[in-house]
Amino acid sequence: MRVLGIETTCDETAAAVVRLAPDGTGEILADEVMSQIAEHAAFGGVVPEIAARAHVEVVDMLIARALHRAGLAARDLDGVAAAAGPGLIGGVLVGLMAGKGVALATGKPLIAVNHLEAHALTARLVAPVAFPYLILLASGGHTQILAVRGVGEFDRLGATLDDAIGESFDKTAKLLGLAYPGGPAVEAAAKTGDPERFALPRPLLGRPNADFSLSGLKTAVRIAAEQAAPLSPQAVADLCASFQAAVVDVVEDRMRVGLKRFRERIGTAPQAVVVAGGVGANLAIRSVLAQLCAEAGLALVAPPQKLCTDNGAMIAWAGVERLRLGRIDPLDFAARPRWPLDPKTAPALNNKA
Ligand code: KG4
Ligand code: ZN
Repeated sequence: MRVLGIETTCDETAAAVVRLAPDGTGEILADEVMSQIAEHAAFGGVVPEIAARAHVEVVDMLIARALHRAGLAARDLDGVAAAAGPGLIGGVLVGLMAGKGVALATGKPLIAVNHLEAHALTARLVAPVAFPYLILLASGGHTQILAVRGVGEFDRLGATLDDAIGESFDKTAKLLGLAYPGGPAVEAAAKTGDPERFALPRPLLGRPNADFSLSGLKTAVRIAAEQAAPLSPQAVADLCASFQAAVVDVVEDRMRVGLKRFRERIGTAPQAVVVAGGVGANLAIRSVLAQLCAEAGLALVAPPQKLCTDNGAMIAWAGVERLRLGRIDPLDFAARPRWPLDPKTAPALNNKA
């Protein structure tokens, strides 16, 4: 089974081909990504109109290149998967329409993929992870703790009430004059900083539900930066280290609660703990999760960095997972700016999912 995956929900245009391997995981035959970071950098964030236009300009070329790298013609595919949301609607439309075009021209089934489900299933592309598992899904637009019971079966155990973790890294970087995207820049600066120089809050620490709140932390960083102005490079590094240490403490506490809620809700311990989304690339966050898992006797699955940030392989893999269960979608499937994974749970305020 070979599936093309197309991703255009944010600021990466991506196309990939993934094949179902005999061991049940996936084999990536081609994985093309074109980042628009340079086009948005001057604005310190993603500008939706610029993003949509940039996707239009390259999406066909990336699809052709992915097929060429995989050594396949479009007719050799078994299905065409495109991210149909949630995301910036102009961009989502570009990728979904491109996918529909390939599906219509070849007569192959369309799989309309939820971008968040794709992040959540990526662990199974790289390792034989069985259901149910606990996942921290943390990117620029989303921060959720989920129990993944199966393909399309999610229980949301917690989510951010305001900013996403990646967003808080991006805003901290912007405030301190660091490069966009902020996550890698803040992590790099934190390496030479003192995490104890600035006493920053740990919002919601100790609360019985697994929710996050990050906007107060962002405000505390701004006030500390104003008080320490003019900022020396060392002060910037110290602020980054102090900010990252606060996030790490929050993640540890919230995931501890997430594990407890998982056992209560599902009735068993998870088969594994997974971290996904762009923030999963952060080594300090990975290391505190590894420690938590070691204590609980659980395996931590953290897909390689390239598969944590937005990519086409994760969309293709979600397509494989759905296609093998016979879950295909009609060609009139509409793009969705919002698309919660767990419709039973009312979306948290401003959670963008
Ligand atoms: O999943 P992703 O590529 O796109 C979204 O769907 O949002 O995630 C991008 C987000 C950005 O906010 C970026 O700053 C953050 O992930 N990020 C990081 C790191 N690398 C990327 N955050 C913290 N530490 C990192 N090393
Ligand atoms: Zn994403």
